[in-house]
Amino acid sequence: MTVIAIDGTFASGKGTLGKRLASHYKMPYLDTGKLYRAVAYKLMETKNSPENLVEAINAAKEIKPEDLKIPELKSGNVAVNASKVAAHVEVRKELLKFQKDFAKKGGILDGRDIGTVICPDAEVKLFIDAKSEIRAHRRHLELNANQESISFETVLKQLTERDTRDMNRKNAPLKIAATAHIIDTTDMTANDVFENAREIIDSIIF
Ligand code: DC
Repeated sequence: MTVIAIDGTFASGKGTLGKRLASHYKMPYLDTGKLYRAVAYKLMETKNSPENLVEAINAAKEIKPEDLKIPELKSGNVAVNASKVAAHVEVRKELLKFQKDFAKKGGILDGRDIGTVICPDAEVKLFIDAKSEIRAHRRHLELNANQESISFETVLKQLTERDTRDMNRKNAPLKIAATAHIIDTTDMTANDVFENAREIIDSIIF
């Protein structure tokens, strides 16, 4: 079963790429960040802190596919808390099975540890990144479009803090898999990124 693993930094364009590739290759797609966001959202709904390990584990145990469709998962606050719950080793362990089960049937997964931990045998590994100012700019536009009023400076600060947490946590930190193809999207359009990834994938498996 073919697996395409897409890892990368926040707002680098990996989600847009994942969806576009899934539609092009007619493969199932899983945005694994939504699992962590759904856990964070459940904790927020029950007024629990993302640092509350026991409640975070309980929330992770209950995650179902329908939870990934909750519109609030896109919000800035959920994103900040998601990176905090993602630092709990036990939460990651609970969410591992969901991701492995999905990958067993083949598909495209995007996240932070897909090529390194979840699917180390993926046929294709991509690592997507861009300069932090550009990523903050994209995220700022997205939040404004969602009617969230927040300054560019705050978005940049939150993004830098999230990068630091994602890259420095002890368990499954964001890092580039040894065989990953790196795409820097700083000066690329979404279409350029798709074409670049498609060429890489076609040269490897199709
Ligand atoms: O991709 P995203 O912004 O939706 O991810 C939300 C948070 O979840 C992010 O800060 C890091 C974490 N995450 C993770 O640790 N591992 C993954 N495979 C996906 C996301």
